Amino acid sequence: MAALSEIETYEHDVVIIGAGGAGLRAAIECSARGLRTGLVCKSLLGKAHTVMAEGGIAAALANVDRRDHWKIHFRDTMRGGKFLNDWRMAELHAQQAPDRVRELEEWGAVFDRTKDGLISQRNFGGHRYPRLAHVGDRTGLEMIRTLQDHGIHRGIRVYMECTALDLLKDGDRIAGVFGYWRDTGRFVLFRAPAVILATGGAGKCWRITSNSWEYTGDGYAMAYLAGAELMDLEFTQFHPTGMVWPPSVRGTLVTEGVRGDGGVLKDNRGERFMFRYISPRFAPETAADEAEAERWLRGEAGARRPPELLTRDEVARAITAEVRAGRGSPHGGVFLDIASRRPADFIKRKLPSMYHQFKELAEVDITAEPMEVGPTLHYFMGGLRVHADSQMTSVPGLFAAGECAAGLHGANRLGGNSLSDLVVFGRLAGVGAAEYVRSLAATPAVDPEQVDSCRRRATAPLNREAGKNPFVIHEELQVAMEANCGIVRVEDELLRGLQEIERLKRDAAEAKAHASSQFNPGWHEALDLRNLLIVAEAVTRAALLRRESRGAHTRLDYEGERDECLKYNVVVRRGVDGAMDVRQVARPAPPPHLAAIASAKIEDLERDLELEGKRA
Ligand code: FUM
Repeated sequence: MAALSEIETYEHDVVIIGAGGAGLRAAIECSARGLRTGLVCKSLLGKAHTVMAEGGIAAALANVDRRDHWKIHFRDTMRGGKFLNDWRMAELHAQQAPDRVRELEEWGAVFDRTKDGLISQRNFGGHRYPRLAHVGDRTGLEMIRTLQDHGIHRGIRVYMECTALDLLKDGDRIAGVFGYWRDTGRFVLFRAPAVILATGGAGKCWRITSNSWEYTGDGYAMAYLAGAELMDLEFTQFHPTGMVWPPSVRGTLVTEGVRGDGGVLKDNRGERFMFRYISPRFAPETAADEAEAERWLRGEAGARRPPELLTRDEVARAITAEVRAGRGSPHGGVFLDIASRRPADFIKRKLPSMYHQFKELAEVDITAEPMEVGPTLHYFMGGLRVHADSQMTSVPGLFAAGECAAGLHGANRLGGNSLSDLVVFGRLAGVGAAEYVRSLAATPAVDPEQVDSCRRRATAPLNREAGKNPFVIHEELQVAMEANCGIVRVEDELLRGLQEIERLKRDAAEAKAHASSQFNPGWHEALDLRNLLIVAEAVTRAALLRRESRGAHTRLDYEGERDECLKYNVVVRRGVDGAMDVRQVARPAPPPHLAAIASAKIEDLERDLELEGKRA
């Protein structure tokens, strides 16, 4: 066994893994509270999935429609999440999002403006009012730029192109992180009593995804192996509009802002098909006809919203149904048309990235012709089970925030609620970690044997004489997940998917990375496989256990929501044999004041808020 002193080592009070919006916001908070803060990113600083939230950050600022209020944002979030959301997280999020947006503005974010000079807000699916503060269609990018600029001066130590492999523990507590530099392949050890996971989701389990190469579920898998609980992983969001052509960019996000700013979905006969998918449950709050939809977009009181702005799960299912019925576009999607609805200068001003994206990647001018779009795996609603106020997992010293954590979004996330999630819960994770570190009587110790076993596991793919190609294994996993655990699910296919995953686990245990550990993408891929396979198995097992259709989880063999299924699906690693255990856990009863808001008729809630406003 090699001595620990041979490994490059850093000491911090807190190490944050992942430098997207949640990680950066957590790092800023930790450092502001006097913690020695390390920020580890798999890629370059600033390259994060946060930039894929293009259309805006949801917060009840009430700048464009004065009737907006945190209670209505909370109600929309619970309804969008089909009531599976963690009540307290949804409350904290709706209450604190406006302050976090104003904070971003103070730190230099340049939001689009209303005519009166306020932060402008746009419409998005499932939001009652124009609620998304935005910077054209580059909101996530502006948020990352702002957090980076603000954070970089605070003494945060940033470790770029460094992959975290395993969490280290002293007894049941966190003691640090073991990882490696992607360029040299050398190992690195971070000693820290607190770790915040902000590693995003695991879109790379699927073939068609808006996620880039970093999103292999590292945080979920490391935490699961360290004994933390995963929750509701079956709720994987297929964003309705990804590019479908050319094949090289299939899955690339087309922001919901296109529909929020008036774009409509059409089948290959030119029909606006979403009107056919308004379920009676939603009819009172969705548009009855085209004229009314336009009036809603103009913010007229009493009008109903366009059906293109139903929640993402419903729009994605509708698109899939149209394609399956033979009414799709030439490359297997449907048409998204803003050209015939809005003037060219408006489109270029509000959607500049979309304009350039289609011009450069698909040779389509979106001011003159429709786009071809189809669903793309975009986001995990599930993740690590955390305590709402502190964001701590069931492992002392281990925290999670953003997409890596479960709870806020329930069975389906509303667009724009991700950026607000990142800053609200990134900050709370920072507060939670600071309080935890201060409460410790002694610093946990790193166990050399644990480190040695991490190192042996990591070098195994390099040390084999021969073995399977890790890229092929990953591709086969993506095909299997697409086929068996996609936008609609049935028991037979899920079981077939599990069998495939078992076979791929055996293959991955024999994966071979050729050449040395320096600059070796094959080795990186072989190491990512463990995480991808853990997540794929957890999603599939949880999907099998949830025998109902709720939000983003659609079971063709179990239609509709069932009251007895309004529970959390929790995945843990069994101590005895290391097998994966999935079980249903009862949700705590909702606090009465929140239950009343969530179930209120919208007209009653609006009237009460109006009266409250007058009294104030
Ligand atoms: O469509 C979008 O701009 C994505 C936003 C989000 O995922 O929140």
